Amino acid sequence: MTGGRQMMLTGERPMIASGTLLIPLQPPPRTVELTIDGETVQAPEGSTILDACRRQGKEIPTLCYLDTLHPVNVCRVCVVEVEGSRVLVPSCSRPVEAGMVVRTDSERVRHSRKLVLEFLASSVDLSTTPDVDRWIDDYGAHPERYGPPAPPMPAGLRDSLQPGHHAPPDPDYAATVIQPVKVDNELYVRDYGKCILCYKCVEACGKDWQNTYALTVAGRGFDARISTEFAVKLPESACVYCGNCIAVCPTGALMFKSERDHRDAGTWDESRQTVTSTICPYCGVGCNLELHVQDNEIVKVTSPLDHEITRGNLCIKGRFGWRYVQNRPPEARGDGRRTPEGRGS
Ligand code: SF4
Ligand code: SF4
Ligand code: FES
Repeated sequence: MTGGRQMMLTGERPMIASGTLLIPLQPPPRTVELTIDGETVQAPEGSTILDACRRQGKEIPTLCYLDTLHPVNVCRVCVVEVEGSRVLVPSCSRPVEAGMVVRTDSERVRHSRKLVLEFLASSVDLSTTPDVDRWIDDYGAHPERYGPPAPPMPAGLRDSLQPGHHAPPDPDYAATVIQPVKVDNELYVRDYGKCILCYKCVEACGKDWQNTYALTVAGRGFDARISTEFAVKLPESACVYCGNCIAVCPTGALMFKSERDHRDAGTWDESRQTVTSTICPYCGVGCNLELHVQDNEIVKVTSPLDHEITRGNLCIKGRFGWRYVQNRPPEARGDGRRTPEGRGS
């Protein structure tokens, strides 16, 4: 073995005689062989069962999983059966192993996913959760069998519930988390009647990306909910309005106020929207922006999840700075509507 080869294996950066720096190459990932639904497949060591299934073109429903966040395994809608395992396993976090025998569509798996979907759909407003209606059909879920939804709670009641003090459920109704939407700022709204408690916003706001920790989980059991510190309004909380929580929310519980206003007015129409990619001009980081435009008006801004630097995250300027682009007099807008800042006719 040459000296250079030895150095590469020990992680040092060797120089060749001309002084050129050699960049050590990583060895190709090892693969493991497993069986998925009777088919033998190869998957990179360390990848998950979900990754392997997706590579095979198999759809596994997911709600709390996102490529850019650490898996938290809370929704359990992605479970699969692994031979030899006493319980169903969450495919979104369980790494593949050599010789594993996985079943993604067995009766046990389908029954479990059906129950998860029934519990969620009977207690949470999933009307803006993509794909969930199709999954409810596919798995034969009947959320209505738990009874009519309980009446919405008055504003603030859920925020005040104390661990160990919850009221017994009313047998005439399916318990729900439906409550008035929280509109306490001009940038985004929180509709916790749509919250499935997937923790994605908590992760994006906290340890995974933003490190602001403005959102956390309060309460226990069915009373558990996402909350600011002491349930204060967003402008009084630690929130810095990066909007990274909106970007990861799978149900629309967290939503741009612009989108919510359009939806409330019945004018939200994604078939009329275009998406233009550009670079944020506000600082030298140069984050990628995707401008969602409807009727010549920016209605929201996202950032691609697969960007290796920003991974879908932005700051307040990239996420909401576009509002100033539209701070135009009504005659320039051509529709006489008020600007987002409330000016205009
Ligand atoms: S608000 Fe959205 S992202 Fe946060 S826990 Fe609820 S559903 Fe998940
Ligand atoms: S989104 Fe924020 S960090 Fe990114 S380029 Fe714009 S101003 Fe800079
Ligand atoms: S998507 Fe796997 S547990 Fe939620």
